[in-house]
Amino acid sequence: MSPKKSTGKSAPEKSEAPKKAAKTSAKAPKKMAKTPDLLRGFRDILPEEQVVWDAIRDQTRAMAKAYSFERIDVPVLEKAEVFERTVGAHTDIVEKEMYTFVDASGDRVSLRPEATASIARAYIGHGMLNRPQPVKLWYMGPMFRHDRPQAGRFRQFHQLGFETIGVDDPITDAQLIVIAHRLLRDLGIEASVQINSIGNNEARQAYITELSAYFKRHRAKLGEDDKRRLTKNPLRLLDSKDPAVKELLAEAPQIVDWLDDASRQHFTKVLEILDEVEVPYILNPFLVRGLDYYNRTVFEFWPQGDEGEKSQNALGGGGRYDHLIELMGGREATPAVGFALGVERIAKLIKEKTPEKEPIQVFFAQLGDAARRVGLRLFEEFRAANIPVAEAFGKSALKAQLDLANKMQVKCTLILGQKEVLDGTIILRDMESGSQEIVDMKKVVAIIRRKLTA
Ligand code: HAM
Repeated sequence: MSPKKSTGKSAPEKSEAPKKAAKTSAKAPKKMAKTPDLLRGFRDILPEEQVVWDAIRDQTRAMAKAYSFERIDVPVLEKAEVFERTVGAHTDIVEKEMYTFVDASGDRVSLRPEATASIARAYIGHGMLNRPQPVKLWYMGPMFRHDRPQAGRFRQFHQLGFETIGVDDPITDAQLIVIAHRLLRDLGIEASVQINSIGNNEARQAYITELSAYFKRHRAKLGEDDKRRLTKNPLRLLDSKDPAVKELLAEAPQIVDWLDDASRQHFTKVLEILDEVEVPYILNPFLVRGLDYYNRTVFEFWPQGDEGEKSQNALGGGGRYDHLIELMGGREATPAVGFALGVERIAKLIKEKTPEKEPIQVFFAQLGDAARRVGLRLFEEFRAANIPVAEAFGKSALKAQLDLANKMQVKCTLILGQKEVLDGTIILRDMESGSQEIVDMKKVVAIIRRKLTA
């Protein structure tokens, strides 16, 4: 092979490589002048907060298991219509808070502001009517509402929820209230149960007419927002924050006086069952909830101490929605009831009470590549034995690793060097006494387990 030929062959390869590199570097993104901020009302849930979140997840899962609810996950993005008519065209959620946009396929979509409508859609779509009734489902996940952010109110927040679909017996309403109340109590939160009945559609319409007439007589005292509510959705006046309206409410007609007989009996039974299981409740004649799909029983959970007036920071709420599934095109009337709790609000209340994260007791220190590789294998053995082990594979100096182990206040540190790898041993250092022993690598998991349980 002549040198010229060989140069000719390799030349394009050689020259191609730098060209590619040049292309890539030309495309390298320009450094940002400023790290992007989080969107308003959105937050990170940091590692140190996860202990509390884990406690909530664990208790929810345990509760769902105990009452045989099955998990369901529905998408965070749905066709906007899933929420618009169900949650209600004139509710705050639909009027001002939904993240709705047209996506690249031309579909009008919304980030879910809640999950009940999606679950009703899923119940119909998956023919759950043909399953044994009731269908009992639970969920936990992020929801989105473009509300004005303030303490306890976010634009992305999380809900955990339980829904029982397919029965109208009052015991179901009571059972869901009991579940939420116990779940909160298991998490160390005493919540007051606020409860009301908003009757059937006709009774509610008759009440709304009466309520509108009452407020029309006092129209002059209403602010602009409340005047708008009076025309569009008079029930919302019941949650007005305006002191003048609150004063007017004292004399306003109450929905209980308009209840149809069947709803009144249903409600009485719910209350009797709650009395029997000793779940205290407060009858709240002005509780109507901010979503349109409810009928009959509605309820909220307020942090104790917040009773007496409409809470801005309800820990959760729910109620019966016997017409939602039919409204969404379900084959037949399908009664249902459910609730959702706000996870951020619960997390905030239990933060102080939750025990510190269980500290890690074992640290693995390594010297050299071979030790790191053996270490990775050893980690699997500890994981199988359910013993968490900390490490600093990124640090090579033993002193730096031992300093970290000290800082973490572990009970023992395992030290693996080149020699130990060859011998099949490992050094076990007791961090309290500082004493060290060499132990057989095969027995180290059992030895550590004994030490930790001693
Ligand atoms: P909701 O009352 O709109 O009901 O929301 C339930 C809970 O979610 C609230 O009580 C609150 O704890 C939390 N939450 C709502 N908005 C925010 C926010 N912007 N920031 C933080 N937390 C918030 C529903 O969503 C119904 N789907 C409940 C239901 C289930 N009804 C029947 N089944």
